[in-house]
Amino acid sequence: MEDHLRAAAPAKRTTPSLSRLLERNRSHRAYDSSFIVREDQLRRIVDVATKVPSARNQQVLRFRMVLSDEKHKVLPHIRLGGALPELHLPRAGEEPNAFIVICSTVAVSHYVSVDLGIVAQSMLLQAVEIGLNGICIGAFDAKAVKQELSLPYDPVLVLAIGRGKDNIRLKPITEDDNHAYYREDDIHYVPKVRVEDLILK
Ligand SMILES: Cc1cc2nc3c(=O)[nH]c(=O)nc-3n(C[C@H](O)[C@H](O)[C@H](O)COP(=O)(O)O)c2cc1C
Repeated sequence: MEDHLRAAAPAKRTTPSLSRLLERNRSHRAYDSSFIVREDQLRRIVDVATKVPSARNQQVLRFRMVLSDEKHKVLPHIRLGGALPELHLPRAGEEPNAFIVICSTVAVSHYVSVDLGIVAQSMLLQAVEIGLNGICIGAFDAKAVKQELSLPYDPVLVLAIGRGKDNIRLKPITEDDNHAYYREDDIHYVPKVRVEDLILK
């Protein structure tokens, strides 16, 4: 393209930049209950598992999609907002209505945990890219969820997916500051250690 044409018609960015997705990818604990997550949306999110790294490429993780019709099988067994117990999150009427239950076909090892982190974050980023939000949930009753969903493998992490309602802001901190997330005037603050303190010298 000639230079003067390029200036007149700048390339349109269709997807947000990675740094924008990372910023928007906050852990939501309140969801718009009028928005029902569809199967094709969960499937698109799970599909990232076909594109991510895996230790020894063993790909031992499996994914159970849970839509609104089955949410009652997961909801009673998750714990949200452990650092803010007085809020009893999620509030009634703001519960997520879709989940991805991640299972491992083998006993959890260091490598399985690394695979899990990679796939979970990739899935959450994909959710954000399609206008949804989510959260990783490690505090859940694995035995109950396995039984309720008749899973062949042990669940190791649950992702809630939906249209998030929380107003969340990142707050830069030093490594010595308190890391606990907190709320003020209905804004959820997430302290993040500044990059100067993360880099080892
Ligand atoms: C492996 C893992 C497990 C988590 N488990 C829970 C959980 O059980 N309940 C919860 O409310 N949040 C859970 N979280 C969310 C964290 O609290 C959240 O990532 C942290 O507060 C930082 O907020 P951010 O995700 O918006 O950066 C988990 C996050 C990760 C990565």
